[in-house]
Amino acid sequence: MLSANPFSIMQHPEHGGHLHEYAEHYGIPQHAWLDVSTGINPKGYLPTNIPDNIWTQLPQENDGLVLAAQKYYGTDQVLMVPGSSWAIQTLPQILQQQSLGIQRVLLPKVGYGEHKKAWLKQKATLDFYDDIPTDEQLVWADACVLINPNNPTTRLLDPQLVVGIAKVLERQHGLLIVDEAFMDAQPHCSVVSQLQENMIVLRSLGKFFGLAGLRVGSVMASQSILQSVQNALPPWAISNVSRYVAKQALSDVYWIAANNYWIQQNIQRLVSICAQAFCHERSLIRASDLFVTVWFDEEGAAQAWHHHLCCHGVYCRLLDENNGLRFGLLQYPEDWQRLHKVMSMVQSQRMLSTVTTLHNEYDLE
Ligand SMILES: Cc1ncc(COP(=O)(O)O)c(C=O)c1O
Repeated sequence: MLSANPFSIMQHPEHGGHLHEYAEHYGIPQHAWLDVSTGINPKGYLPTNIPDNIWTQLPQENDGLVLAAQKYYGTDQVLMVPGSSWAIQTLPQILQQQSLGIQRVLLPKVGYGEHKKAWLKQKATLDFYDDIPTDEQLVWADACVLINPNNPTTRLLDPQLVVGIAKVLERQHGLLIVDEAFMDAQPHCSVVSQLQENMIVLRSLGKFFGLAGLRVGSVMASQSILQSVQNALPPWAISNVSRYVAKQALSDVYWIAANNYWIQQNIQRLVSICAQAFCHERSLIRASDLFVTVWFDEEGAAQAWHHHLCCHGVYCRLLDENNGLRFGLLQYPEDWQRLHKVMSMVQSQRMLSTVTTLHNEYDLE
């Protein structure tokens, strides 16, 4: 039975995923849901022929993974880590130990919440910027975090602008952390090829490659920062099978090109489904490569849509601010058709309820 207030029905998890909680709450078995709650590529990389010894041997540094990553990212200054979120959680402590001055940190007002949590844990003083930090904020800061492109706002900053921010910070020995977890479909927008001494760039194999379960990401920075990050890694931080699959994925240029094409085609499909479904709402729709975010003007509209979609077994991500929804991609044509159908149905239900409300308010015949 759903609670009396249908739109504040449950404690929403902090990130997408956690489908089991929704399945239980709405009484719909997990397999019957369309899960569009994350920005993970649903048609991710599938490894072929994993040799038996990969499962039984300990991981080795010289297995070719680093070379594949250097080639893929276009820099020698790469360290592989167990997921970019490991780096997000660990960097504040590492950096504060390395340079005791880091206290004042700038973060985006809206963005992947783990950055804020990690800096708060280290008792940093935080300030927040809207789309880009102002010069005043940069002069104040010891470190600044950019999420580029931003999840969930989709905002993509020009690499020259990012380098400019690093240069302003450099004047007071400040650091710039650029989270490029969602950058792979637009490598020309990455700042990896223009790494500055005070810059740390994070990448992930969990989004474009769809390999979130592998827990592999990378850190790109000056050799001294990389050395400190390396010192913080436990032995065999990335499993042998994860290293093997990551190396294969990063080296598979044909899959990368085909995947890029598939993503561009399917994001257009998602945009047009959203544009149709929300055409009667006062809303703003923005697309990144792996997700679409929709903001609503009307208070409560995002929660209402989220709840109605859940009632039909469609699980999207309600933004932390409760003012919008984020939708990820789907793999199969029949799933796209179902999403389209459910979104149209919910739109009709909402329009009908608006007409009924108007009828009641104005006593229309
Ligand atoms: C912007 C951003 N950065 C980093 C991550 C962490 O990704 P992973 O730890 O899988 O590499 C996420 C996960 O959702 C994210 O949204």
